[in-house]
Formats: sequence, structure tokens, C-alpha cells
Amino acid sequence: MKISEFHEPSRKLVGRTVWHYDVVESTNETAKELLEEDLEEGLTIWADRQASGRGRQGRAWASPPGGLYVSVILRPKEAHAWVLGLLVGMPVVKALRHFGVFAGLKYPNDAVYQGRKIAGILSEGVFRRETYHVVVGIGVNTNVDLERLPPDVQGIATTMKREVNLFVANEEFLDYLLHQVDDLYSRYRNTRIEFLIKDYRGQCTTIGKRVAATTSKGKIEGRAYDIAPNGALVIMDDKNEKHEFIEGNLKILR
Ligand code: BTN
Repeated sequence: MKISEFHEPSRKLVGRTVWHYDVVESTNETAKELLEEDLEEGLTIWADRQASGRGRQGRAWASPPGGLYVSVILRPKEAHAWVLGLLVGMPVVKALRHFGVFAGLKYPNDAVYQGRKIAGILSEGVFRRETYHVVVGIGVNTNVDLERLPPDVQGIATTMKREVNLFVANEEFLDYLLHQVDDLYSRYRNTRIEFLIKDYRGQCTTIGKRVAATTSKGKIEGRAYDIAPNGALVIMDDKNEKHEFIEGNLKILR
């Protein structure tokens, strides 16, 4: 159920209007249903809890109370849904650092702290009413007790509550985060994508590390070397051959 709606005119576009729900199935699904209506770009759906939060590659995203679950509706001119989702990792990491968690960006767009995942992004491109929309869903383990996450996730995830000895209200975190996403989106609309990819490359902690990528076509092992213009991770194998990895499972070896 929608519990409130608020406006923040200081933002250019992203999060000027936020609809706050108590519980939804998934904020991405709610946002996608709303695409049938003619609503403003940047509209943000925020829920206190998700009954069936979704992650990348068909995985579930555990969404207990205390976490931050949000989806932003965007209408970029070009169909760069995937790259946009990749770039949004930067503002997410910036917000975590602002509130005391020195997180890093793991390819493609996970925020990790000491190797444990603390936030994730699911960006979906949707064509509705003859317009291309991108729904960018962001989940952050803010005020979540680690024990509230599923047992198989507890060993690989962490939460702000566990890492920072300071309570940060979700509303405060969201306000800062939306300002950062708004800035990124305005750069996305006004700057050449190569510059943003370069920025991303500089912030991505996966670059330089030895990785193992599993895709539908097989396994690639080597050193994460670069980010291609299409946002793919370039992996250099032990024969110095380059491979582009974009979707699948990525393990950092060292
Ligand atoms: C991932 O790392 O696998 C992506 C996780 C994305 C989770 C967020 S929470 C808000 C939005 N709604 C969803 O159902 N998923 C995204």
C-alpha cells in the first residue's frame, strides 16, 4: 500500500517525486506496472519491504524490513539500459562511503565491503506506449540484521548495521543517494558515454584482479583488464587473448 508521496524540487529529475510504500512484491514490478500511465521521468518507488524482491540472473533479493528498496523510472534517449545500470553502481558506492562504509565497486554493479556484498542493482529496459523506459532497481542492506538474510547469503553479504556503529535512517540515505543518481543521470544525458565508462573503470575494484567468469558459453579465467565501450568486462586470459564478459557469474580469485 502506498503510504506517502513527497517532492524534492532541488533534484533535476531523478527522485523529484517519490512514492513510498509499506510492502510491495518488488519495486521494479510496481514501477513497470506504472509505465502504463503517463508519469514523470525520474519517479521513484520506495518500499520498506518486498515480498518477492528480485536480483540479477533470476535470483531472489532478500528484502527484510530495515533495508532500502527503490526503483527509478528513466527514459534515456538511447537504449543503454544495461550500461546505465552499470554506471549507477558509482552513486551507490558514493552514498555508502558518505555514510561511513568504505565500499568498493565490483563488476558489474555490486557494492562490496571487505569482499561481502552490501548493495545490488537490477536495471531493466522496457518498451511501453512506444517509448523505451529503464527501471533501475537498487537494494541496499542498510538497517538490516545479518541474521535476517537467508543462511546461504549470510556468509557472502553484509549490512550497514553490522559495519557502522551509527544509525542512518533510510530516508536520509535515500535522499543522498537520489541526489547522486540524479547527478549521474544528468552527466549520462549530457556527456559522452566513453567518459562515464572511463570514470567507472577508475572506480571498479575488479580491474587488475584475477577472475573466473562463468557464462552460458563456458568459463573464462584470467585478469580483469578493461571495460569495453559497451560496458563489458574485458578479461585477458593466460594466452594474452581478450574476452568480453557481460552476463553470468563472476568470481574474484585474488
Ligand atoms: C543483484 O545484485 O542481483 C540485484 C539486486 C537488486 C535488488 C533491488 S531491490 C529494489 C529493486 N526491486 C527488486 O525486486 N530488485 C531491485
